[in-house]
Amino acid sequence: MMFRSAVTPAMLVLFHVAIAAGAKLLSGGTMIAFDQESEQLRVIRGGSVLIEGDRITGVSDVASPLDTPAGVEFVDCTDKIITPGFIDTHRHGWQTVFKTMGSITTLADYALRFSALLAGLYEAVAAGVTTIVDHAHHTWTPEHAAAGLRASVDSGARVFFGYTFQNSSAEFGVPEQIGQWKELAAAMTSNLTQLCIAYDEWTSNPTGGNTQAVIDLIKESESLLTTHHVEGPWLLGNTPQDLHRAGILNSSTPTIISHASHLDVRGASLLRATNKHISITAESEMHYGHLHPTSHLILDQASLGVDTHMTFSTDILTQARLWLQSARYRVYQNTLDRWQIPAQNPFSVNQAFLLATRNGGLAVGCKDLGVIALGAMADLVVWEGRSPAMLGWTDPVAAVILHASVGDIAHALINGAFRKRDGRLLDSRYYDEVQDRFLASAQRIQNVLKEMPLPPQEGNFLTGSPFGYVMQVDAQRGEGAGYGPNFV
Ligand SMILES: *[C@@H]1O[C@H](CO)[C@@H](O)[C@H](O)[C@H]1NC(C)=O
Ligand SMILES: *[C@@H]1O[C@H](CO)[C@@H](O)[C@H](O)[C@H]1NC(C)=O
Ligand SMILES: *[C@@H]1O[C@H](CO)[C@@H](O)[C@H](O)[C@H]1NC(C)=O
Ligand SMILES: [Zn+2]
Repeated sequence: MMFRSAVTPAMLVLFHVAIAAGAKLLSGGTMIAFDQESEQLRVIRGGSVLIEGDRITGVSDVASPLDTPAGVEFVDCTDKIITPGFIDTHRHGWQTVFKTMGSITTLADYALRFSALLAGLYEAVAAGVTTIVDHAHHTWTPEHAAAGLRASVDSGARVFFGYTFQNSSAEFGVPEQIGQWKELAAAMTSNLTQLCIAYDEWTSNPTGGNTQAVIDLIKESESLLTTHHVEGPWLLGNTPQDLHRAGILNSSTPTIISHASHLDVRGASLLRATNKHISITAESEMHYGHLHPTSHLILDQASLGVDTHMTFSTDILTQARLWLQSARYRVYQNTLDRWQIPAQNPFSVNQAFLLATRNGGLAVGCKDLGVIALGAMADLVVWEGRSPAMLGWTDPVAAVILHASVGDIAHALINGAFRKRDGRLLDSRYYDEVQDRFLASAQRIQNVLKEMPLPPQEGNFLTGSPFGYVMQVDAQRGEGAGYGPNFV
C-alpha cells in the first residue's frame, strides 16, 4: 500500500517528468516514521520511502510499491534502519578549530578564553545531523560574519544561521550589524541556509536602542530568534519572562531558548502558552557546570543541541543518550531518596528519539522537519542494522538510541540529496583542500591559545555570584593527583 501525499495528481505528473532522474526509493528497510494524526512514532518493517525533489512523497509498507514512478533510483536498505535526520538546535559552528582544547574548562573559563573563526559542518553531517541552528557569535567584523554564512551555505546542511547582534567594536556595533543582516538577507539564494537572529541582551540591556532595533528586526523579518538562557547562580538572564516583556515571545516567530538551565515554573508556563522551545545541550550543561535541574519537566517544549562541539561530541545521538540517562538518574534519585525502589522507568527511548528529531523541527517552526511522513522534507539517515553493535535488534528506536554510534551511519540525505553514502561524505572538498586548510588554521590558533594561561577563577563571576570550591575527583591516591599533565 502506498500512502500518497497531498500533492495533486497534476503536480505529481509534473514532478515525475521534471525530476524523475533524481527520485529515489529507499527500499526494504525498517523505518521509524511518524503518524501526524496520532502524533506517535510508527515503525514500518520492510517498507520503503519515496523521495522526489526535496520531499518525501511516499511512505509504504512494501519494499517495491507497484506505483513507484519510472526512473526512480532503488537504494537497497535491507537490514537497515531509516530515521529522520537528527536536529541540533544549538551550536557554535565556528569553534571546530579549538578541538580538544577545552577538556577541563568550566563555563566561566570558556567565556574568557575561546574566540576565533572557522566553518566545519561536515562533521555534523557525517554524524547524521542534518539540521543545525547555529548561534553564530563570531560577528566581530562584516567579513567574519559573511564568511560564517558562506561556510554554512557551502556545507550542504540545513542551517539556521543565527547572526549574533552584539557590540563587537565601535565601528561594528548592532546598527551596522543590522544593516549587514538586511543586505545578506536580500542576497540569500540558498534553499537550505536561512539567515536568523541571535541576541543575548534581553536582560542586561532590556530597553536600550540596540535591543529595540533587534526587536524591530524580529517583528519585521519574522526570522527565527535564538538566545542563551542560563540562570541559577550564573545569572546570565534571557528568561522567557524577559523575552515576553520585550513583546517578542507571543508571536509566530520560532524562538529557541538554549540551555534554559534552571528554568522556573513561570518561564515554563510561558513557553507552553506561546509554544516556544528550549534547546537542552546535555553534554555541555554537564561539562561546563550550568546543569539542567528542571529541564526534564519541560520536555514537551524541548529539543536537543550540541553547543561548543570543539569540547565534546558533535552528534545529537550522543546528546540524546546522555540526556536520557542523566534525566533517568535525576528522576530515580527522587524515588531512592524516599528509600523506595523505582517501580517503572521514567523516560522512554521513543521520547528521546522525538527530542532528537521531531521536537527539533517544531523548535525551528517546521513540522515537516525531523519526521518520516508524507510531504515532509527528505532529510534522512540510514543506519547499518547488522554492524557488531546493532546485530540482533528488534525495536529500531531502542537500537538507534541505545546501541548505535555514528560509525553505523551508512547514508545521510539532506533535501533529497545524498550527503553521505556508504559511510563516506560525498563532498570531496572536505577530504582534500578544506581538511588541510582547516588543520593549518587550527594549529596556528591552538598554538596561540596554548600560550594564554587561564586566569584563576577567584572572587566573583562577571554576573556577581561568587566562585566556589569544587572538589577534585581522583582515580589515583594522593592529594591533587587527579588532573595529571594536560596534553594540549
Ligand atoms: C561598544 O564597544 C566599544 C568598544 O569596543 C565602545 O567604545 C562603545 O561605547 C560601545 N557601545 C555601546 C553602545 O555599548
Ligand atoms: C530552491 O527552491 C526553488 C523553489 O522551491 C527552486 O525553484 C530552486 O531551483 C531551488 N534551488 C536550489 C539551489 O535547489
Ligand atoms: C498571546 O496572544 C494571544 C492573542 O494575541 C492572547 O490571547 C494570549 O493570551 C497571549 N498569551 C500570552 C501568554 O500572553
Ligand atoms: Zn551556546
